[in-house]
Amino acid sequence: MYIPRRTLYHSTLRLATHPSCSVRLLTTTAKQPPSFSTKTRNFVLGTASIFATVLFLDYYFDSRAAIHKYLLMPVLRGVLDAEDAHRLAIWSAKWGLSASDRVKDDERLAVEVWGRKMANPVGLAAGFDKHGEAIDGLFDIGFGYVEIGSVTPKPQPGNPKPRVFRLPQDRALINRYGFPSDGHRTVALRLRERIRRYIYGTLSHHPKETARLLASSPDGFGTLVDAIGVNRSLYGSKLLGINLGKNKSSDVESVEDYVKGVKELGDYADVLVINVSSPNTPGLRSLQKREKLEKLLREVIRARNTLSKPQPPLLVKISPDLSDEELDDISDVAVATGVDGIIISNTTISRADTLFSGKYIHMRINMDELHFYLSAFSQN
Ligand SMILES: Cc1cc2nc3c(=O)[nH]c(=O)nc-3n(C[C@H](O)[C@H](O)[C@H](O)COP(=O)(O)O)c2cc1C
Repeated sequence: MYIPRRTLYHSTLRLATHPSCSVRLLTTTAKQPPSFSTKTRNFVLGTASIFATVLFLDYYFDSRAAIHKYLLMPVLRGVLDAEDAHRLAIWSAKWGLSASDRVKDDERLAVEVWGRKMANPVGLAAGFDKHGEAIDGLFDIGFGYVEIGSVTPKPQPGNPKPRVFRLPQDRALINRYGFPSDGHRTVALRLRERIRRYIYGTLSHHPKETARLLASSPDGFGTLVDAIGVNRSLYGSKLLGINLGKNKSSDVESVEDYVKGVKELGDYADVLVINVSSPNTPGLRSLQKREKLEKLLREVIRARNTLSKPQPPLLVKISPDLSDEELDDISDVAVATGVDGIIISNTTISRADTLFSGKYIHMRINMDELHFYLSAFSQN
């Protein structure tokens, strides 16, 4: 039944009284239509707020906007602990809510390593995106190189929380994560899915070409990317590193975890990194000793050489706490095995005297110990 709008404004209407409608009862209240000036004011306010929102979002999504440094970061530091802030950062990069770099890299920043081009030499070290969840968001921020991991063969939870501590006065962090990892299989599936989306997204209007490419790559999606002619990062001039770790439950001396990592994840990487230097997995750093390192590097290089071409360069990541002798040994092993590079360096276990917050933390620990001894003493 058609009821003119004007009627609704001027009367209270009982539809049930109409012969064509016996069930539904509709009551309207009398109301004046908005005046022209109200309509105009609403229109102006609505348009202005849409305009302001668009401007704000445009500003917010610019990674160089001062709001990130001077407002968002201090607020986040104030309300979230270090690990929750880390998770939030990954989550927002994963869902496209983090800012991006809009300025094209100056050509003078371009570097070439292992025959591949990077638009700039600034990289994100392992440990930020441990499970490969936010790769595109992180590249969008502007990095020329993003290294995900460390990834361990089997999933593991890492150390008990709390395990990350801010040192605000030093603008530093104490990291005791202990390799929380989703494991090779989940990370490989995630990387595969990312490539699948890329292929269907970029080649969607060439279904024949997509089908041909998919059929031409029985070994996996990593090699498919090579066929398309981009880096495995899926960018023309950015590189994706995958950092390999070891399960806490694995035999300390065994190199098998790393060999597995090369085989499972090597086809998705522009660069592979063997991490033998994290301080939070017991025994791991002993793999930097001359004989052990040589055996390890020979085996992972052998595994890398079985991957489909182009094979990723293989780097070893060392600790900052090595003696000169140990550094000499590592250099000899690197030359002898032909490893493609060394990443210097991982998390330190030293606490420099120059750290202001370090002193404070030592003092806190000592006070806690003192308190413990005093209460033990008073109980005896
Ligand atoms: C919270 C945190 C987690 C890290 N996790 C890893 C990791 O899983 N694997 C790794 O090889 N390095 C890890 N690192 C070490 C960093 O990749 C980097 O080597 C280290 O922070 C030294 O670089 P910097 O002096 O620029 O901080 C981690 C560092 C931090 C602060």
